[in-house]
Amino acid sequence: MRIVLGVGGGIAAYKVASLLRLFTEAGHDVTVVPTEASTRFIGTATWEALSGNPVSNSVFDDVHLVNHVRLGHEADLVVVAPATADLLAKAATGQAGDLLTNTLLMAHGPVLFAPAMHTEMWQHAATRANVETLRSRGAAVLEPASGRLTGADSGPGRLPEPQVIFDAAMALLQGQGDYQLPLAGRTVTISAGGTREPLDPVRFLGNRSSGKQGVALAVAARNAGASVRLLAAHMDVPPPAGVEVVRVETALELREAALHAAAVSDVVIMSAAVADFRPAEVSDTKIKKRDDTADPVITLVRNPDILQELVEQRTAGAAAAGQLIVGFAAETGDSQGDVLAYAEAKLQRKGCDLLVVNHVGTDKVFGQDSNSVVILSRSGSEPQEASGTKTEVSEAIIRRISFELNRVSL
Ligand code: CTP
Repeated sequence: MRIVLGVGGGIAAYKVASLLRLFTEAGHDVTVVPTEASTRFIGTATWEALSGNPVSNSVFDDVHLVNHVRLGHEADLVVVAPATADLLAKAATGQAGDLLTNTLLMAHGPVLFAPAMHTEMWQHAATRANVETLRSRGAAVLEPASGRLTGADSGPGRLPEPQVIFDAAMALLQGQGDYQLPLAGRTVTISAGGTREPLDPVRFLGNRSSGKQGVALAVAARNAGASVRLLAAHMDVPPPAGVEVVRVETALELREAALHAAAVSDVVIMSAAVADFRPAEVSDTKIKKRDDTADPVITLVRNPDILQELVEQRTAGAAAAGQLIVGFAAETGDSQGDVLAYAEAKLQRKGCDLLVVNHVGTDKVFGQDSNSVVILSRSGSEPQEASGTKTEVSEAIIRRISFELNRVSL
């Protein structure tokens, strides 16, 4: 296969020599296209010797070969390693100032980015947005590895190991022709935020859910190729672009929207904080405070358990197609049992396929940007831990869901 290996200007460029070796030893024809900056780390002579092909980084070399068009057109795969913050930004905005960025614009086959940069650069909102843009266009952007960086500090930002990049590249090549994102063609419904249960036209019973987790899940599912329906209860964050938003207020409204959406969904994720109870009576007019009456008493009635109903009302067709219903549990341990024991019991009680368990205290989870969860499965596989930002945790949950779905349909 013909592979274009773009090399960005980062110190990790030296590791790409091993990656190039893996490609050539597997019999691939590799053309290396280094950026100008990268040649300050590794010179073009190294790439020429290792690849056996001429190396250029200018659109003005060998103009008669029209390399700036030809390389991308002819490549079965383009791999960029290290993908620096600068290269990701250029690729996301479609710049074409050198041979590599021209090649990326002309690429007909899959494109794989293996990022490497300082942790703060990787986590910067600009880089996050660029990565999101590239993924939403179908490019594969690997997660950088965590560990010691160039300076004394450590964190996510290291170039993934050459073998990891090689494996991802081979997976992309093998899927070529019908190359697909893991959730391409799938419909995913996600409930997010907290329901509000009205007492009167101005008052309600609510909860602290910010909707961040549900929105992060919607972004991760969208980036994995799914068409996403977000059932948005009250949220402190705006819904993301590229998903269908259905606004709901109360648990009963959410129930109706969820049961309706489930009939056409491959996956339903209940990440909303649903009020377990609602006021038995809702006053049409504002409840007045009056000195001559006793203190008001609010009587509550139970809301339906939507998750449980989704499982009970799952159609035979949806079950046969391997529909996945995913619940969330906010648990605390106590003297009677630990968090996992309670979560395991909840998984059995509710009957959902996967349960994502958050360990909560008063200062944890709600409204926070980071998170640590355990994913329990009814199929009995080992509990899986995921931690990091809500984005990272959501990506891990969506990867797990993709794995379960694709396993079922094999
Ligand atoms: N859920 C639901 N309908 C409800 C309450 C909760 O669908 N009326 C869903 C939530 O969206 C979540 C899961 O059920 O996916 C677990 O919610 P949680 O509040 O942790 O569980 P409860 O059933 O309320 O159990 P308990 O309060 O006994 O811990």
